[in-house]
Parts: sequence; C-alpha cells; structure tokens
Amino acid sequence: MNPLNMRDLLEDWDKRGLLNRIHKEVSPDYELGAVIRALKGEQPLLFENVQGYSVPMAAGLGGSRKLMADSMGLEVNELLPKMVDSLINPLPTNLVPTGPVHENVVLPPFDLDDFFPVPTFHTEDCGPYYVSGVLVVKDVEGRKRYTSIRRMKFIGGNRTNIVITSSELNRQVAYFEERGESMEVAVMFGVVPAVVLASQFSTHLFHADKLDVSGALLGESLDVVQCKTVDLEVLAEAEIVLEGKIVPHERDPEGAFGELGGYYGGNAPQPVVEMTAITYRNNPISQTIFPSSSEERLPMCLVREMTLLSTVKQTVENVKAVHVTMAAAARLHAIIQIEKKTEGDAKQAALAAFASDKDLKHVVVVDDDVDIFNHEDVEWAIATRCQADQDVFIIPGAKGSPLESSHNLRGVTAKMGIDATYPISEKEMFRRTSVPIEIDLNDYL
Ligand SMILES: Cc1cc2nc3c(=O)[nH]c(=O)nc-3n(C[C@H](O)[C@H](O)[C@H](O)COP(=O)(O)O)c2cc1C
Repeated sequence: MNPLNMRDLLEDWDKRGLLNRIHKEVSPDYELGAVIRALKGEQPLLFENVQGYSVPMAAGLGGSRKLMADSMGLEVNELLPKMVDSLINPLPTNLVPTGPVHENVVLPPFDLDDFFPVPTFHTEDCGPYYVSGVLVVKDVEGRKRYTSIRRMKFIGGNRTNIVITSSELNRQVAYFEERGESMEVAVMFGVVPAVVLASQFSTHLFHADKLDVSGALLGESLDVVQCKTVDLEVLAEAEIVLEGKIVPHERDPEGAFGELGGYYGGNAPQPVVEMTAITYRNNPISQTIFPSSSEERLPMCLVREMTLLSTVKQTVENVKAVHVTMAAAARLHAIIQIEKKTEGDAKQAALAAFASDKDLKHVVVVDDDVDIFNHEDVEWAIATRCQADQDVFIIPGAKGSPLESSHNLRGVTAKMGIDATYPISEKEMFRRTSVPIEIDLNDYL
C-alpha cells in the first residue's frame, strides 16, 4: 500500500535511506531555502531544527521523476498513463467525522508565524511566503470542490495575501466580491506529492475533483473532514490546515517575488486572506517548496506532458513521448518523439503542440531513437538531423505565456518549431553507431 499521508511517506523514505534529515539549526530567513535550492528541490529534506520553532519542515518531496513515481508505487514510465487513468477513474474521498488534522484547533486571535515557520526565499522577495499550501475551494454554487496552489505572503497576525493567475479562480473571487461577500478557502500543508500533482490538473480543461484524482493516483480513497470554520473539506491526514476567507475589496501590494522564469516579478495589488482557524496534527510537520525549484516545476511539466501527448496524438498518431523541460519555466519548451511514418509528420506534431498549449515557445521534434530526457541526445539530433533553412519554422507574434520575458509585449511571443528528424528515405544513412556486444561494467571496474 502506498503511504497516503506525508509522515508515513517520510518514514518510508527514511527507512529506505532516501530522506535527508538535517539536524543543524537553520534560519527560516534565506538559509532554509538556500539548502533546498542548492539541491534544486530534487531531494527529500526534513529540517529538524528550524530557528525559533519546535516544528520541523519538510521540502523537496516531489522534485524528481523517480521519487514522484516512487511515492505512488510507480515506475517513471508509468506516471503519465496513471495520471490519465486517475483523471478518467477518480476515487471519491470518504467524509469521516474527525481526523488527525483536528487534533489541535486554534481560533483567532492568533499570529500565524507563532505556530509554524514561514520562510523567506530570494534576495529581493518582499517578505516571508507560504509557497506549497494546497488551496481548497468550491465553485460559486458551493458544489464542485477543487484544489490548486497559490503563493501567499504572510502579512502579519492572521492575514496573508494570495496570488491567483488562473482566470477561473479569479472569476470566482470577483463573483463574491461583487456581492460584498467573502470567499471561503482552506490551505493544506504536509501532503504527499500525489496531492500536489493532482492540484496542477487544469480546472478549465478537466473540471475534475482533484482530491478524488489524488486518491486514484495513490490507489486508495482519501479521508476528508469538514473544516471547523468554513464549509469545505480537507484531507483528514494533512499535517496542518489554515481555514480562512478572501476579504472582499481589500488588496495588499505584492512583490517583488522570484518567479518561475527565474526573474523577479513586479509589485501588484493582490487579494487578502484572513484566517479563521489553524488546525494541526499532534507533533505536526510543516512543509514548503522552494519557489521555481524542481518540486514546483515537475508537477507542472507532468500535467502539460499528459495533455500534450493526447492532443498531439489527435493529428500525428505515431507520437511516442513528450518532454516538457523543467529548465524552460516548466512550460516554454517541449521535445516530442515520433515514429515518423510520412514526411511532414514532424512539423505537423510541432504545430499541433503549439495549437494545444499557448505557453509553448520552442518545440523540437525528434525520431524514436533519440532519448528526449537526455539533453545531449536532443542536441545531437538538432546538430546532425536539422537544416535551419528547411527544418526550422517561425511564427511571429503569437500568444505566449505571461512568463515570457523576452518579447516587448507581455504574453506575446514568436514560436519556433525545429524538425530534428531525418528523411524517411535516408534511414540507412542515419543509423546510429553501436558495438556488437553487451557488457556489464561491474565485471570490469
Ligand atoms: C509550488 C507551486 C506554486 C504555485 N504558485 C502559484 C501561484 O502563486 N499563483 C497561481 O495562480 N498559480 C500557482 N501555481 C500554479 C497553479 O497551482 C496551477 O496553475 C493550478 O493549480 C492549475 O489548476 P487551475 O486550472 O485550477 O488553475 C503554483 C503551482 C505550484 C506547483
């Protein structure tokens, strides 16, 4: 059985020597983040001694494909098929009367940072941030529940702001605001990577209940409890939950903050959340994600790969695999592997990718003998199978990602497709070199 909660997962990884326990005292101001960033957010860490707090902090849980898959009892190549299957066959949550997350309930007045560390990450960040909290909301009719992650700057007391870039959730916030009403939210900390991954499934595309999808990813329905002060359900085995309300007509100036593209975002007014309760397990373990680290980028890449694979297949059925690279802000670059059947397949695949995902900026299409997760192999294909005057096409001035920083208009970009496949008729000439025997290096080194 897969661990369904974070402390069981940490225990499992600890037993298997996969967890790095950090005994040294670290400051939540920059130092804790510096350690996570030095490891790119790819390795599971448990900070046991956070300065000023008795509560440990976990990070880096879902930042590598191998560990993300492992947390769900899968091999890396099983991840995308499992995600598709979980979307189609979600496992509904069980509502239980009470759960560990309600072992401690704190009502206002309180100062959020008295309880758990709130780290500050980059040199120019405007304050301490919650980056990993999984937000739970319901649609405006109060029926459909869904999760996402939105960074929240700790403002003071029981207040944070919240940065929402999704038009769906912004519409919802506006709906309540127009009526002078507050919108209820709950934010879960201390959850397994499957819950973070499912939170990244597009609400707009799939309208899935992402907690039900999380259960399917883990192979078992998850228990939820009714919140204490808002009409929402949260995971019964989350470590910590903040319950609260987005206050109508109030804004807090947010930024600078180190964004996904690797630059600082500007300052803009953002909605304010007032927390109405903190609930947590006995001996809670807090959790963070270093912004823009692999742990933030990987779930985004995986969900985009899952979507791209099926949409590109609609027009080029011989697509084998898709890689949305983490380095390119987890959205700007894709490498597509095809088994080319007819000339034109590669450019068609790139066009289909651009049509499917507006954020894509550069797409490289390679043959099925190229390892799309190995940058050197992809570069080799571009170098040896591509002629820029015939195999590169550029579409100027198309819609792009708001994170695109190099165009003079934000959200606009040129798209470049690179066909790095060889002509079908020249298969013989493009066969790769090899040696005729298999060896086991352990016999020699
Ligand atoms: C670690 C992490 C931090 C994120 N921070 C934000 C954020 O601050 N604001 C935001 O709008 N989206 C953020 N996202 C992306 C959204 O969570 C994502 O677009 C969303 O969950 C997709 O679901 P939706 O279609 O409901 O928006 C973050 C994602 C991750 C993994």
